[in-house]
Amino acid sequence: MDGLDALKKKYLDGILAAADEAALEDLRLSALGKKGEVALMMRELGKMTPEQRQQTGPVLNALKDELNSALAARKAALGDAVLEERLRTEWLDVTLAGRHRRQGSIHPVSQVTEEVTAIFADLGFSVAEGPQIESDWYNFDALNIPPEHPTRTEMDTFYMHRDEGDNRPPHVLRTHTSPVQIRHMQQYGAPCRIIAPGRVYRADYDQTHTPMFHQIEGLALGADLSMANLKWVLEEFFSAFFGISVKTRFRASHFPFTEPSAEVDIQCSWDQGQLKIGEGDDWMEVLGSGMVHPKVLKAGGVDPDKFQGFAFGMGIDRIAMLKYGIPDLRAFFDSDLRWLRHYGFAALDQPTLHGGVSR
Ligand code: PHE
Repeated sequence: MDGLDALKKKYLDGILAAADEAALEDLRLSALGKKGEVALMMRELGKMTPEQRQQTGPVLNALKDELNSALAARKAALGDAVLEERLRTEWLDVTLAGRHRRQGSIHPVSQVTEEVTAIFADLGFSVAEGPQIESDWYNFDALNIPPEHPTRTEMDTFYMHRDEGDNRPPHVLRTHTSPVQIRHMQQYGAPCRIIAPGRVYRADYDQTHTPMFHQIEGLALGADLSMANLKWVLEEFFSAFFGISVKTRFRASHFPFTEPSAEVDIQCSWDQGQLKIGEGDDWMEVLGSGMVHPKVLKAGGVDPDKFQGFAFGMGIDRIAMLKYGIPDLRAFFDSDLRWLRHYGFAALDQPTLHGGVSR
């Protein structure tokens, strides 16, 4: 029976030392499994004399029971340890004060783009888009801007790099959103009513100019649209946008892509350095506009004998500054968190037409 004692000690020690359930299962198999050491000894019983069997049988059965209960006890202990560990690491102090989480904010440019889009959508305009890298044909030629026009120089326009011998037509970072007029006409023809908000680029940097800024283009084509329609649409828009009835003043101007052309001012007052829109007898320039030039209609594949219409382009950043009293344009693009927290908008704080922007 010495062998049996050694065997028993070996397994009991092993079970006590088992680190996890997998190790326990290995031990159970090598002791009590079909080919386990104890099972093999049980099989030996058959070869014994009845006297020997009578003596050894109960001893082996007792060993088996003892190992089984040691296995069960160790398994329970391991389970307790796992639970202990979870209780130790996953505890939660429900009496602690909540932790403050900073919320992001909506940039004024995004906010105002949304506002403008909502107002024009209400007037029946849909949103069109175009690429920010444009061929010089879309950005200039199609818009009746001649090759010698000063805005086409590298002084004003960012040109894409071309290696020596690369003869692809020049591409530029679009200098205005007007090329979207051409793209839209080519794709959808006339009549149409669209706005096109987006980024534009010019080689300019001072207190009122940044090399990248935002414009919103407008284009409306129909059989008999006129400047009168343009004026109504713009006054309707500015009144909705500023929440107060706003008059506009049209000043004759020149753009190659419109004829006639007008720069549009909105009514305002300067009261002790404080700007107020929609009152007083000062004027503030906000956009360029006009009747789309027949050559531009042709470049877009629209028949100038059948359709005519108006177009306008205004600076989103600029009207954002006017509406929300933001003094410095350059701060728009500094990514200064303090600025964003001050001038940004909460996600659920978006003024919408249906939310009651006064009209
Ligand atoms: N594209 C002009 C600019 O960037 C604005 C404009 C658009 C003028 C449409 C007339 C018609 O200044």
